[in-house]
Amino acid sequence: MKILVFNGSPKRDKSDTMHIEYCTGCFSCMLNGGSCICDDDMKKILKEIPESDLLIFSFPLYVYGMLASMKAMVDRLLPLASMEMREVDGSYRHVERTDLSHLKYVMISGCGFPNSRNNFESAVAQFIKLFPENHTVITIPESPMFNAPEAAPVTAPRLELVMEAGKQYAEKLCIPEEILAEIRTPMIPEEEYARIVNQC
Ligand SMILES: Cc1cc2nc3c(=O)[nH]c(=O)nc-3n(C[C@H](O)[C@H](O)[C@H](O)COP(=O)(O)O)c2cc1C
Repeated sequence: MKILVFNGSPKRDKSDTMHIEYCTGCFSCMLNGGSCICDDDMKKILKEIPESDLLIFSFPLYVYGMLASMKAMVDRLLPLASMEMREVDGSYRHVERTDLSHLKYVMISGCGFPNSRNNFESAVAQFIKLFPENHTVITIPESPMFNAPEAAPVTAPRLELVMEAGKQYAEKLCIPEEILAEIRTPMIPEEEYARIVNQC
C-alpha cells in the first residue's frame, strides 16, 4: 500500500517544509488540461496522489478548521478536476480528470481545547465534503498534553489507543467507532484541563 502523508504541523522537529504557493484562482489548470501555472512542489504531490492508495492529512486544529498551510495545499488540488460540474446527492462537484475512486483518506487532528464537540465540527465537515467516500476521521482533544512528560500516566494509554487504531486501520481499513469515540474524549476532565492550562 502506498501511503502519502501530509503533515500540517508548523512545529516539526526536522522541518522539510515543502514549497507550495497559494492558488491564484486563474483556473488555467482546469482550462489547460490539468497543469498549474505555479512551478513548485505541488507538481510532485499532484503526480503522487493518483499513484497512492491512502492519503493521510495530519494537522492541528486552527480556529476551528484546517490550518492555513494545509488549506493552501488542498486548494492546489484543483488540477485533479476538470471544469465540468456534476450534481451528486444534492451538491455540485467538479468531475475528476483521473479515476481516484481507489483512494482512501484519513484526517488526524489534535487540538488545544479539551472538547471535541463544539470544536472540530467545521474541520470535519470540510474534510468529509472534500472526500465524501472512504474517509476516516480521528480527532484528539487536549493534544498539548502529549508534550508534557508529567502527563504520561494519561497520555501513554491514549497513545497506545491511537496505535491500536492505526493497527486496526492497517488490518481492516477501518477503525471501530468505539475506539474513535474514546480517542475523541478528553484524557482528563475538561474543567481540570482548563484549570491547569489557565495556571500556566
Ligand atoms: C492560531 C491557532 C489557532 C488555534 N485554534 C484552535 C481551535 O480552534 N480549537 C482548539 O481546540 N485548539 C486550537 N489551537 C490549539 C492547537 O490546535 C493545539 O495547540 C495543537 O496541539 C497544536 O498542535 P502541534 O503542536 O502539532 O502544532 C490553535 C492554535 C493556534 C496556534
